[in-house]
Amino acid sequence: MAGGRWLELAEALGLGSGWRHACHAMLYAPDQGLLFGHIPLRYAVLMQMRFDGRLGFPGGFVDAQDSSLEDGLNRELLEELGEAAAAFRVERSDYRSSYAGTRPRVVAHFYAKRLTPEQLAAVEAEAPRAKDHGLEVLGLVRVPLYTLLDGVGGLPAFLENSFIGVAREQLLDALQDLGLLESGFIQGLKIPGGHKKQLSMDP
Ligand code: APR
Ligand code: MG
Repeated sequence: MAGGRWLELAEALGLGSGWRHACHAMLYAPDQGLLFGHIPLRYAVLMQMRFDGRLGFPGGFVDAQDSSLEDGLNRELLEELGEAAAAFRVERSDYRSSYAGTRPRVVAHFYAKRLTPEQLAAVEAEAPRAKDHGLEVLGLVRVPLYTLLDGVGGLPAFLENSFIGVAREQLLDALQDLGLLESGFIQGLKIPGGHKKQLSMDP
């Protein structure tokens, strides 16, 4: 996103009333599955197809009636994912980054929460009954973490999709930092600006 920047949470919280705050979360769980019986899935990582045709993470705007960023985030998760999101709470300790975009003035806070495989399966099962299903949320998707033998199928092809805001950078940063990928994967991808430290040096 042109014109935006990564910033610390304390600075983000001090931005004036001209700024709206939004919170989104990457939910993930270990996955012992094998694609075609031999390609390890490693983790189930959830994203969603949004109303605008882009991929993003569940979450949304924090409202005036929310008493904290996390209250707003957990309310949005209930609306977008349904009742299975009531079985856990995304906390400040799950916070990862903040990004301030200038047009419009929205500061997007990002969280990552590890669930049990059962909790994640319940989210996927309940999602079609969520309030926002078929409206703001067109469906949940799992992120393929592997690369097929052609060197493109899997995560490289997934990353060619269109993403909202800095969702692609948030995804890559979390996958790398939380150790969800096989080592060396991101380096092998040769993605310019593939994580926030590189991005923050962009003009
Ligand atoms: N990175 C950066 N910004 C993001 C990200 C992200 N990963 N995901 C979303 N945003 C931005 C969006 O562009 C939007 O400006 O954060 C803002 C809020 O996020 P949404 O999830 O789109 O908001 P939500 O509250 O769930 O609902 C969307 O907002 O503008 C209205 O009419 C629109 O009803 C719709 C609602
Ligand atoms: Mg949303």
